[in-house]
Amino acid sequence: QINPLLPAPPEKILNIGHRGASGHAPEHTLVSYEMAQKMKADYIEIDLQMTKDGILVALHDETLDRTTNGTGLVKDHTLAEIKKLDAGSWFNEKYPEKANPSYVGLTVPTLEEVLQKFGTDTNYYIETKEPSIYPGMEEELLLVLDKYNLFGQNGRSSKVIIQSFSPESLKKTHALNPNIPLVQLLWYDPNTPGHGEITDAELNDMKQYAIAVGPNYKKIDQAYVQKVRESGLLIHPYTVNKPEDMKMLLDWGVTGLFTDYPDVFREVLKNY
Ligand code: G3P
Ligand code: CA
Repeated sequence: QINPLLPAPPEKILNIGHRGASGHAPEHTLVSYEMAQKMKADYIEIDLQMTKDGILVALHDETLDRTTNGTGLVKDHTLAEIKKLDAGSWFNEKYPEKANPSYVGLTVPTLEEVLQKFGTDTNYYIETKEPSIYPGMEEELLLVLDKYNLFGQNGRSSKVIIQSFSPESLKKTHALNPNIPLVQLLWYDPNTPGHGEITDAELNDMKQYAIAVGPNYKKIDQAYVQKVRESGLLIHPYTVNKPEDMKMLLDWGVTGLFTDYPDVFREVLKNY
């Protein structure tokens, strides 16, 4: 039986551009997203934080320090303050071999700016980051997505997947709109011995609201992937940048993956 919430036929393997094409350009900038789209990523991945004045912005960290020339918490700054920051120069300094003068002065985009630029020409794989420190984040996200007509009648016609490490955030989103495909992110500590385990009870619980799980790939094995697939859930591991790892995961049966190099994954997929 076809699950109407699955975003695509189960055999469609999703190439998810992690923070855009962040192996090539400063993460979570319009340039990075544009590159991912040109590299034919099926989805551009967007991490969300919220400003002091309640605007959703695309940024991975809770703080401004790593990827802008600002400092402190996003939630302590207004959008106007954040818009003055340079979100590109850090990349040129950290990766001189990939530096490009045009990255200097790139800004932190709001979610609305991303949606205005790409419209329905791409798909969006959006993460609610730190939802516990941003009350109302899910409601605001759904309002913005609705404004840009990104929901369909069911998962297959939706342009959006929402992901989170927080089951509470996903369950809240599911209660607000049960037609949006949701993905439960998982993290297994690399410093513990052995592989990550997923129990039948966990799978059954996640199936109540999610269509897929997204684990860190270095702590899973073939048995893990098979167990998830047999439960009926899809599996999109993160963040996979080496072709040999992409091939291994495809051979294990993953149904998509997050990568900083959607161009590399596109090449690998030609043989699948
Ligand atoms: O969302 C999948 C993956 O991006 C989770 O890790 O820290 O890169 O958001 P992170
Ligand atoms: Ca993410």
